[in-house]
Amino acid sequence: MKYQMIYGARYNATKQNVLWIKERLELEDNFQVELSNLEEAKVCDDSGVLILSTGIYSGEAVEGFYEFIEKNAQKISQKKVILVVTAMNKENCFDEENNLKIIKNFPQSVKDKIIFQEVLLGEMIFKTMTEEDKISIDYFYKKIMHLEGKALEKMLMPRTLLDKKDVWKVSERIIELKD
Ligand SMILES: Cc1cc2nc3c(=O)[nH]c(=O)nc-3n(C[C@H](O)[C@H](O)[C@H](O)COP(=O)(O)O)c2cc1C
Repeated sequence: MKYQMIYGARYNATKQNVLWIKERLELEDNFQVELSNLEEAKVCDDSGVLILSTGIYSGEAVEGFYEFIEKNAQKISQKKVILVVTAMNKENCFDEENNLKIIKNFPQSVKDKIIFQEVLLGEMIFKTMTEEDKISIDYFYKKIMHLEGKALEKMLMPRTLLDKKDVWKVSERIIELKD
């Protein structure tokens, strides 16, 4: 069984999560995972399943993710599509129909091929963010969540929710889809 996995992200959590998925899938007999970054990825012809993965930033996918899907829609829609995103808040990523909100930006032909969607937890390390992201996070905590003092300080501390056990559980649900 060959899977192709393509991921895009600004920082490190999405990459860690897809590496854990790859590790778990490849513990199955005859499972092979070809992993590539969105920036150099090409949709391959010899895999029936494509796992697409992105970090979530202000409710959206990483830069270039929607364009990649649009550009490769014809090839992608020949496959089964699995969508796994990395975010800090699972619930906010889904709409009322339990679809990931980002799929509203996908062509219908790709939406129709999604067989599995899930959110994995990530991390926020303010210190490593771009200036633009720092401003946007600062605005969100202060002006939208109205945090201040100790509560604000706590949110700005390096926070990780990465969880290999959870990622392996999700990987096992992906394995169960093989038939
Ligand atoms: C500018 C910015 C906006 C974010 N917006 C959201 C959001 O809307 N919802 C959410 O659950 N997490 C949000 N996050 C948290 C990221 O999804 C989290 O940091 C994740 O680990 C990002 O993946 P990466 O580390 O692979 O880049 C945001 C993070 C940044 C830096």
